[in-house]
Amino acid sequence: MADTVWPSCAKSLKGVILDMCGVLYDSGEGDGVAIPGSIEAVRKLKASDLKLRFCTNESQASRDKFVAKLQRLGFDISVEEVFSPAPAAVAVLKQRGLRPHLLVYDALLPEFDSVNKSDPNCVVIGDAAEKFSYQNMNKAFRVLIGLEKPVLFSLGKGKYYKEMDGLKLDVGVYMKALEYACDVEAEVIGKPAASFFQCVLNDMVLQSHEVMMIGDDLVNDVGGAQQCGMKGVQVRTGKYRPSDQNHPTVVADGTVDDLAQAVDMILSGRC
Ligand SMILES: *[C@@H]1O[C@H](CO)[C@@H](O)[C@H](O)[C@H]1NC(C)=O
Ligand SMILES: *[C@@H]1O[C@H](CO)[C@@H](O)[C@H](O)[C@H]1NC(C)=O
Ligand SMILES: [Mg+2]
Repeated sequence: MADTVWPSCAKSLKGVILDMCGVLYDSGEGDGVAIPGSIEAVRKLKASDLKLRFCTNESQASRDKFVAKLQRLGFDISVEEVFSPAPAAVAVLKQRGLRPHLLVYDALLPEFDSVNKSDPNCVVIGDAAEKFSYQNMNKAFRVLIGLEKPVLFSLGKGKYYKEMDGLKLDVGVYMKALEYACDVEAEVIGKPAASFFQCVLNDMVLQSHEVMMIGDDLVNDVGGAQQCGMKGVQVRTGKYRPSDQNHPTVVADGTVDDLAQAVDMILSGRC
């Protein structure tokens, strides 16, 4: 039985951010499966006076579809509580007065409904899958190269991922192609970028030291949150590996078996 390590963060905790895949559920065939105890843990957090948000790297499905899946699994969760790279990109675009040319998966387009897309002055690419045709890549290239100062945003930068029928090229490959063609460096939006976590904190109207992030990915969830001044706790579910505990640069503030245990620790006032 591995040790439980828990941060002593006084009585200042006012909010919790949960990673989704590997903390709430494990992906697999169909909707995947809920991790034992996590549905109840979310219910308990919601019944407490802590603010709760969820944060994922998902960039193919719109939040509507993604949240519907979690609801089918039994989670009490709504779209407004979920942060994924697309809405974070929307916030950045609005903040900086940028109008994007979009090269994203069709199912993701509704996320950008509220953004002015005429006369684009930047490019946003996501995991567009079969939409990454020569024509579409070239269109994105032409927009970028035509700008006085090209601005490229990438929703994640994965190299490849696995689906039922085999490995698939991910958005990072196409991001690199556009970087190379235009001599730009893309701004990556998603965990572990500080701007991504900051969006969530802004929405919670909380300071980073008042919030704890719980995730299964030591570098992107725990390390990313710590960079922002939050406490980062790792669960031993999802992609957790025992070797995470000897990581050269990231040391979790806490390590627990699963979300259920983390929530019990939080609510019993041990934090
Ligand atoms: C969208 O941007 C264009 C180009 O800057 C501008 O002319 C237009 O007024 C904007 N539309 C809205 C609804 O803000
Ligand atoms: C999320 O996306 C970021 C940015 O591309 C990447 O560095 C990270 O590995 C991803 N994290 C997870 C948990 O998939
Ligand atoms: Mg995860």
